[in-house]
Amino acid sequence: MKPGLTGWEQVNGRNAVTAVVGHDCEIGSWAHLSVGVKLGGNVRVGDFSFIGMGAALLPGVEVGRRVIIGANAVVNDNIPDDVTAVGVPVRILEKQRRLDGSLQKIRR
Ligand SMILES: CC(C)(COP(=O)(O)OP(=O)(O)OC[C@H]1O[C@@H](n2cnc3c(N)ncnc32)[C@H](O)[C@@H]1OP(=O)(O)O)[C@@H](O)C(=O)NCCC(=O)NCCS
Repeated sequence: MKPGLTGWEQVNGRNAVTAVVGHDCEIGSWAHLSVGVKLGGNVRVGDFSFIGMGAALLPGVEVGRRVIIGANAVVNDNIPDDVTAVGVPVRILEKQRRLDGSLQKIRR
């Protein structure tokens, strides 16, 4: 994990404000925050995770590594590694799509 960001910051993409990040967040290497993402204070996002557009991660939430968070999700609980999670409030999908488009069942 990279050192935390302090204070409210706007994280800018190529053309526009991409995400708003609260105090003391930690954003992992190669993690992606899509446009409109909001992170409350003390949120952690693991390496290689993808946060879909408009998602809100509530204060103190920890998102694991290689996670996909769906567009407009409200993440109000911690999310383990290697899952896809969607919705309001967020829920973990039983099946995750492979790169070839097929679905695999998540083992937990
Ligand atoms: C999360 C996501 C990756 C899921 O893709 P997927 O694995 O192909 O999932 P599916 O379309 O097969 O949907 C699986 C289930 O999740 C639900 N779902 C998918 N995306 C959802 C979302 N954003 N919000 C709520 N529910 C969602 C579907 O309704 C379906 O529900 P069901 O199992 O009860 O029928 C995708 O929908 C998404 O949100 N991508 C983000 C795109 C984005 O923000 N890009 C940024 C560009 S800058």
